[in-house]
Amino acid sequence: MPHILENATLKGYNTFGIDVSARWLSSFGSQEELTALLRDFSNRPLLILGGGSNILFTRDVDGLVLRNEIKGIEVVREDGHYVYVRAGAGENWHVFVQHALQRNWAGLENLSLIPGSVGAAPMQNIGAYGVEIKEVFYELSAYHLDEHKVYTFSLNDCAFGYRESVFKRRYKGQFVILDVTFRLSKVPKLHTEYGAIREELDKMGIEKPTIQAVSEAVIRIRQSKLPDPAQIGNAGSFFKNPTVPAGEFARLRDAFPGIVGYPVDGGVKLAAGWLIEQCGWKGYRKGDAGCHARQALVLVNYGQAGGREIYDLSEEILQSVKARFGVELEREVNIIG
Ligand code: FAD
Ligand code: EPU
Repeated sequence: MPHILENATLKGYNTFGIDVSARWLSSFGSQEELTALLRDFSNRPLLILGGGSNILFTRDVDGLVLRNEIKGIEVVREDGHYVYVRAGAGENWHVFVQHALQRNWAGLENLSLIPGSVGAAPMQNIGAYGVEIKEVFYELSAYHLDEHKVYTFSLNDCAFGYRESVFKRRYKGQFVILDVTFRLSKVPKLHTEYGAIREELDKMGIEKPTIQAVSEAVIRIRQSKLPDPAQIGNAGSFFKNPTVPAGEFARLRDAFPGIVGYPVDGGVKLAAGWLIEQCGWKGYRKGDAGCHARQALVLVNYGQAGGREIYDLSEEILQSVKARFGVELEREVNIIG
């Protein structure tokens, strides 16, 4: 039976570095350990934690916090084109990406260096540099907290969208993801259409990129743009990039000629970082809560900020963007409180 801590700080378990406590804190390394803990703590509020890199705690958690530490990476099937690889939900995402790169399994390279766990990746269909996990996802298994049964979810079942899945909506709080199976390619199909990747590959002097080179380019871009949570507390992009109808975009472009947007299904996706920067927030700091000086979409904790301060800053930003552009931002980070 895993050790259970009482009134334990979560500061080291969330990349914002927010100092809140959990009434009980433990971890599980298997489905059996999970079910044993759930039996002992039935009817207590429960929070499943991976790497804590997409979470903002605004108060103490009066319940059981369980860190997912289910490990293991194994090939479950293989054919001429694909290898099907299952990874435990508690595996570190980037360690899994590196595991694939070392074996020349393609498809994850653009998703290099995203913090967090394998099990949380489907929660918001993680994405970066032109790729989302839905493109390499095969299936996952998840434990239903009320029915005490394990279900298999196919690609369709997950209803993946931009930073969305069925686990954030219809089934919110109902399932614990145990493992995820990916379909990776033996013959790489590179995604270098994202401008910054091509530029970085040029800088690296690479004409014929491999998946390893694409990964290296992505890592370099990320390290130059995004703050490292080990240095400054943050959870990546705090808001989603909003999509507006094409007509609305035309109106905005007339009024704000520099506005940044990309055509997507259903309209134009706006760069929220640009909107926030235009409202004067980039580099803003109040106490230890701030808006990052290189990436306005990232809110930061310079040290001792409370979750409430970060949340209040996000609300001020959201309101100012709405007032100036008439565009409503939506938070990407999961708010606990
Ligand atoms: P956590 O923060 O621990 O949890 C997130 C949510 O999922 C919570 O609601 C939690 O309860 C739930 N959860 C976690 N594990 C499970 C499970 N096994 N079963 C059920 N529910 C679970 N995201 C991107 O998409 N693209 C990026 O480019 C990107 N860049 C980032 C850069 C930085 C510097 C940082 C700090 C974050 C970035 N993120 C990015 C956000 C984050 O890395 C991802 O959302 C990641 O998948 C979160 O994983 P985690 O294990 O830390 O999840
Ligand atoms: N921009 C500004 N000012 C800023 C930041 C951005 O004007 O302060 C504009 C620039 O014009 C830039 C454009 O926004 O060209 C896009 O910026 P960037 O390429 O840095 O990407 P992003 O839209 O800010 C998104 C994801 C990231 C992901 C990158 C790369 C969301 C919410 N964020 O950021 O994901 O890594 O693209 O694909 O979709 C995350 O989800 O946590 C995350 C970091």
